[in-house]
This record gives sequence, C-alpha cells and structure tokens, in this order.
Amino acid sequence: MLDGVEIQGYENCLNSWDKLDSEFTSLNNSYKEYLDKVRELHELEDKCAKLLKHHKYNDLKIAKSLTDLKDTSKQKEIKELQDKISSRNVTLRSIETTLPKQSSLYLKIILGDINVSLSTNEKKFKYKENYEKFKITVTMIIVILSIINLLLVKYYRVLDAIFCFLLVWYYCTLTIRESILRINGSRIKGWWISHHYISAFLCGVILTWPDGFIYQSFRRQFMSFALFISFLQILQYQYQKGCLYRLKALGERQNLMDITVEGFQSWMWKGLSFLLPFLFAGYFFQAYNSYTLYNLSKLPECHEWQVPVISFVFLVLFWGNFLTTSAVIYQKFMQKYRPKSSFQTRLLTKYKHY
Ligand code: COA
Repeated sequence: MLDGVEIQGYENCLNSWDKLDSEFTSLNNSYKEYLDKVRELHELEDKCAKLLKHHKYNDLKIAKSLTDLKDTSKQKEIKELQDKISSRNVTLRSIETTLPKQSSLYLKIILGDINVSLSTNEKKFKYKENYEKFKITVTMIIVILSIINLLLVKYYRVLDAIFCFLLVWYYCTLTIRESILRINGSRIKGWWISHHYISAFLCGVILTWPDGFIYQSFRRQFMSFALFISFLQILQYQYQKGCLYRLKALGERQNLMDITVEGFQSWMWKGLSFLLPFLFAGYFFQAYNSYTLYNLSKLPECHEWQVPVISFVFLVLFWGNFLTTSAVIYQKFMQKYRPKSSFQTRLLTKYKHY
C-alpha cells in the first residue's frame, strides 16, 4: 500500500485493509524477533557480568600474589605482568561501565528505580556532549541576566529572585546529570558534584535573604561574581569540549583528527596552563566574598541569619575548590610515573568503537 495516497470508497478501503492486514503479520514477526533479541541481550548481559566478576576476582588474586613475591631474579618479568594486569583492569572497568548498573540512592529518589546505564560508548559520548551543551546554554542565560542586573539603575528584587531561582534549578539539574554520568563510568571527582549541591543550597539561601541595607551592600559584588564564574564556565567548556572530541578521536578505528596519546597530553597541559590562573582567581573571589560577608555580619545593622551562613558556605567552596584543583594537578603530574600502558588503555578505550 502506498503511503500518502488517499483511499476513496468502501471497496478500496476493504482492499487496503486486506493488504494492511497481511503486512501486519510481517510487523508482528519482526516484533517477536525483537523481543527474542532483547531476551537474548539480557542473557548476554548477565553472562558478561558473571564473567567480568570472575575475571576481576582472579586478576586481584594474581596481583596480590605478585606483590607478595620475593623472587628478585624475576623482577623484570613480575613488573611486566603487573603492567599487563593494570592495563587489563582499565579495560575491565570500561566494559563494566557499558553493562547495566544499579542507580544511586539519590537518582532512585528523584527518578525512581529505572535503568540509567547507557549501553554503548557512542551513547555515552552523546550524553556527555549534551551535558556540556546544556551547561554552556544555561551559562549564556546567566551571563545575560547578571549583566542586566548589574546595569539596571533601579534594581528590582523580583529580577534578583528569578536569577537566584535559575541558579538553584541549574545546580540541582547538574547534580542529577552528573550522577548519571558517574553511573556510566565518568571519573568526575565527588567534590565537583558536592560543589553543585552546595551551590544550589547557597543560591537557595540568597533567595530567602530579605532586602535591606546589608543585602544591597553585597548585591553588586554577588552579580559581578556570578558574571566572572560564567566567564570561567565558558573557558572550562572550551577545555572540556577539546578533551571530549580528542578522546573520541582516540577511540575511533580511523582516527580522523590524527591524534596520539602524547598529542592528547600535550594539548591537555596547554589547555590547563591557560585555564588554571583564571580558576584560582575565581577561588580567591570566593574567599573575598566570604570575607566581605563576614565583615557585614559584624555590623550592628545586620540581623539576617543568611549573612554568616553565606559567608561560611563561600569559605567552604573556596577551600574545596582550591584543594581539589590542586590535587587534580598533582594527580596529573603523577600520571607520568604510572604504568604507561594502563594510562594509554584508559584514554584509548574511553569512547572506543568496538
Ligand atoms: N565539573 C564536571 N565534570 C568535571 C569537572 C567539573 N568541574 N572537572 C572534571 N570533570 C570531569 C571530566 O570531564 C572527566 O570526565 P570523564 O571521566 O567523563 O571524561 C572527569 O571529570 C575526570 O577529569 P580530570 O581528568 O580529573 O580533569 P580534567 O582534565 O577533565 O579537568 C580541570 C581538570 C581542573 C580543568 C577541571 O577539573 C576543572 O575545570 N575544575 C575547576 C572547576 C571549578 O573550579 N568550578 C568552580 C568554579 S568557581
């Protein structure tokens, strides 16, 4: 039967129905075949999960025996075997992330008990790409709103409230998306997720802060800070986008970007050396916010509980960000001394096309 052709008259309707009826058998067969394959897929998933568990357990056992070995004549061979095991562990981790996994408690509470595991590296790449695009889109809206808030001669409390509400929604959404990314094998540090929970709390407290002399004394500084953080987000987006596309190219059979692991690392260090001064400036801005609010909280006019609370939260953010970013840089330096094959395997298998 031709789609788009009009059917007129009862006889034609009946003929068309008979044809459609015979086509339905084919649809039904395909659907049954699909259900069989889904069942087969679930069986294979269970089988892979069992084999993976077995492999991980034995890998660990061999690795432990090797560390206990005292045979000094075989040091080179032992080291080679240990490198092979750590490289295999990276591959096992990459396989593990494509198999269905239990959601975290946080996701279960918010989304219910559904499976959020993405089955292929291609889907994972798309999800991460979408996460980065989401961040940059909302950041642009934040930039526009904070500029409007800064430029308005007469200020409107309602605009400030909309702005803070947007920030609360944004950070809450990030925590959900990042939890899904973690389930799917992202190595995002726990602090960055906590940072977004804390930021959502901070903006929520600012939302409840009543208008008055103290609020107005801090308002412009807060809007300038929000603008600066958005600028940082744009820089981070450029860096993360670069990493993402390079990692994808490393995993492709035909590497169109013609990139190597060494090329990736050298690009990463260039990106970091540009980004880090701005990041640390942002952290000192947070410390400065904390200091300003602390001084405001000491004034006799200050009766709002929000002022010392926000001051303390900014201080927590400063220390958390400062220490985590410093630890990340240290960790990246130390990667040079780790078994090269395991590091390479991680980069090559992240978005590998099997
Ligand atoms: N938010 C979300 N995800 C992040 C992240 C952040 N701040 N920092 C790192 N990640 C992700 C990476 O994309 C990567 O994901 P993947 O495993 O899915 O590929 C994973 O975490 C591991 O990243 P890592 O190798 O530790 O770092 P990196 O090279 O990707 O980035 C920095 C290093 C320092 C540039 C990055 O951590 C960063 O931008 N930190 C500053 C964030 C910040 O200070 N925000 C507040 C501003 S005041």
